[in-house]
Amino acid sequence: MSIRFDERVVIVTGGGNGLGRHHCLQFAELGAKVVVNDLGGALDGTGQSLSAAETVAEEIRAAGGDAIANGANVTKPEEVQAMVDEVMAKWGRIDVLVNNAGILRDKTFLKMDVDNFKAVVDVHLIGAVNCTKAVWGIMRQQNYGRIVMTTSSSGLFGNFGQSNYGAAKMSLIGLMNVLCLECKKYNIHINALAPTAMTRMNEELEPKGSTFTELLKPELVSPAVLFLSGEDAPNRTILGAGCGAYAVTHIYETKGHYINNSKVSPDDIAANWELISATEGEAEQDNAAAQSIKFAELAAMNLGISLE
Ligand SMILES: NC(=O)c1ccc[n+]([C@@H]2O[C@H](COP(=O)([O-])OP(=O)(O)OC[C@H]3O[C@@H](n4cnc5c(N)ncnc54)[C@H](O)[C@@H]3O)[C@@H](O)[C@H]2O)c1
Repeated sequence: MSIRFDERVVIVTGGGNGLGRHHCLQFAELGAKVVVNDLGGALDGTGQSLSAAETVAEEIRAAGGDAIANGANVTKPEEVQAMVDEVMAKWGRIDVLVNNAGILRDKTFLKMDVDNFKAVVDVHLIGAVNCTKAVWGIMRQQNYGRIVMTTSSSGLFGNFGQSNYGAAKMSLIGLMNVLCLECKKYNIHINALAPTAMTRMNEELEPKGSTFTELLKPELVSPAVLFLSGEDAPNRTILGAGCGAYAVTHIYETKGHYINNSKVSPDDIAANWELISATEGEAEQDNAAAQSIKFAELAAMNLGISLE
């Protein structure tokens, strides 16, 4: 069965440019009613204009699709709520939310002032929180929802000069992990996209026109978002996408090694480091308690006691 979005209502934040624009166009191509949200500011988040969102919505309508433009600033809960109210009044449901809006304020940590750190966290994390919160009750009531968080290799793996951005992007994985547990019974799936593509966000970092940048086509990232938003989408998956290649990132914990349950010195940790960090048998943990239980089981086994 092929993935389609007929009768589905999709909100894409930051849909007026770059990756978000391609997400919107491809959702519309597959039948979705699309809300193109975009503040229309500069790369650093300053300024505002509805024209970016309008242009994409118009492009969709010109091709025979259904779309509305919205200029809500995702950092402002009241503007986000007004957007959601408008969508509900027009289309009566919200099936997919793609938290894509983003800004950059790069500086090495030494030169980064806290205001620039907070501004980036505000758009990426709080923006996603505001939008997710505004659709959460609706999706629970519908017993259906698909949410995509846009994370980044900068958070997953680190990137020089992006402490604010990397921290903000990794925080979305924490948000996803917890929300996935809270919405298990409501058929809401939450996944994360880790894209790489040539947009205004990285055009200063890479020389335009090189073979490398030519390969980084944003339109090849959007199919990953649509896959993560479909009825049969996975849940709690981090999907990387770039250049037409796709990969999944996992967060694994090693099997672990018990030392003793009375007194442990830092030297004991050092002496056992090979066993503690051995990758054989490493696994994802379903939730925070699973880690505590794993350690307690290791201790109980070594102490010859049973866990009640
Ligand atoms: N391009 C990449 O290689 C790359 C890599 C990793 C992650 N990302 C992430 O992908 C997403 C899209 O990035 P892009 O490369 O298309 O950049 P982009 O600058 O082209 O698009 C981001 C859009 O978000 C909008 N936006 C910013 N602040 C907003 C706010 N407060 N409210 C509503 N809209 C707002 C902007 O106006 C812009 O249109 C971002 O979250 C970015 O961090 C991009």
